[in-house]
Amino acid sequence: MFEVKRKEIMQVQGLELTDIAEEFGTPLFVYDGEKIVQQINKLKNGFSGAPTRIKYAVKALTNVSILKLMKSQGIGVDAVSIEEIKLCMHAGYEPSEIMYTPNCVGFDEIKEAVELGAMINLDNLPMLEKFGQAYGGKVPVAIRINPRIMAGGNSKISVGHIHSKFGIPTSQLPEVIQIAEKYGMVINGLHVHTGSDILDAEVFLRGANVLFQEAPKFPDLKFIDFGGGFKIAYREDDPSTDMERVGREVTAAFNEFCKSYGHQLELWLEPGKFLVSEAGTLLVETNVVKETPEIAFVGVNSGLNHLIRPMFYDAYHEVINISGQSKEKKPYNVVGYICETDTLAADRKLEEVKEGDILAFKNAGAYSFSMASNYNSRLRPAEVLVWKGKANLIRKKEEFADLLKNQVILDI
Ligand code: LLP
Repeated sequence: MFEVKRKEIMQVQGLELTDIAEEFGTPLFVYDGEKIVQQINKLKNGFSGAPTRIKYAVKALTNVSILKLMKSQGIGVDAVSIEEIKLCMHAGYEPSEIMYTPNCVGFDEIKEAVELGAMINLDNLPMLEKFGQAYGGKVPVAIRINPRIMAGGNSKISVGHIHSKFGIPTSQLPEVIQIAEKYGMVINGLHVHTGSDILDAEVFLRGANVLFQEAPKFPDLKFIDFGGGFKIAYREDDPSTDMERVGREVTAAFNEFCKSYGHQLELWLEPGKFLVSEAGTLLVETNVVKETPEIAFVGVNSGLNHLIRPMFYDAYHEVINISGQSKEKKPYNVVGYICETDTLAADRKLEEVKEGDILAFKNAGAYSFSMASNYNSRLRPAEVLVWKGKANLIRKKEEFADLLKNQVILDI
């Protein structure tokens, strides 16, 4: 058992993480393509009871090779910016497979997305009005509804409550209908996304019920989009969303609703974390072990610039000393090299750490590289995708020249 677990931690598709670190250097993001495919299949199986379309929320991890992997598995995409749309197209997506769900962008960007041919999902009345004026019934549009549900792993990622900036409150739907009638618009989808890290099937059902209640007011629907937000395990003993149960219950309720609606609709989902979080590992190297009378620090060649989740959300990422030799474990604070208190992992029991040891941060697939920055003028790491048993470089490490690339240097 211990051996199996150890292999799971230390290897990706039979390749040793320490060898990958040696070949490509650290810091390094490593993704397991097989794990992504497994997660896709879990979702497909869970929701097999209805005509389901999965739209991967690309903000979680936007590397074009990852997008190509998604496409190879028959997965569509959800984009939140014009740049994400263009990256998806670069990966070979047809615009018609791209759902564009922006928030607070200008109308020019929405127009550009329409011109590119993406599907559009709007979440406020002023943009809906502009959309109607510009396109009338020529371009269908979906509506993001605020379900008035407080749910999610922490307040920053709970976005379905009534004080959230996202979605149109149900109390404003009469105005939506007025605008749609005024311009002869076609509302082809309803959308809800309640938050991230949601465990309970009940929350997804509540969100679904809000849409089922409002949907009869919209006769031209083709799909109902239940968003993403499925919880995955960050700690070893964390529960994750029971996809079989959520799938079974949501598809049953959905099919029942479709009977009363009059025709079969498509059920859409927009998972980010669920598909890529567990597939990713951030490998870092120990620069210094600093033992004070109070505490033992492990200082690594990375920091909040590469993994901001612990600082931003108090998120927990499991850490393993994959170079560890001793069976005995000691408590450490793993900290970054940034000139701020970037504690990546506090009070963790690790196999004794020595300078040069490689540490692995788990769950670094989602919202890790995609939220990385150049703070402290540090460079963003390389990314590697293990696909069909081979480790492939899918992004080079940044170079010093990248820091200067867009600077216009005055002659002072
Ligand atoms: N759909 C919409 C409209 C969203 O805003 C999001 C995430 C998703 C789908 C995908 O949610 P997921 O399945 O990944 O939970 N950076 C945070 C998470 C922010 C999520 C933002 N929106 C984190 O690292 O926890």
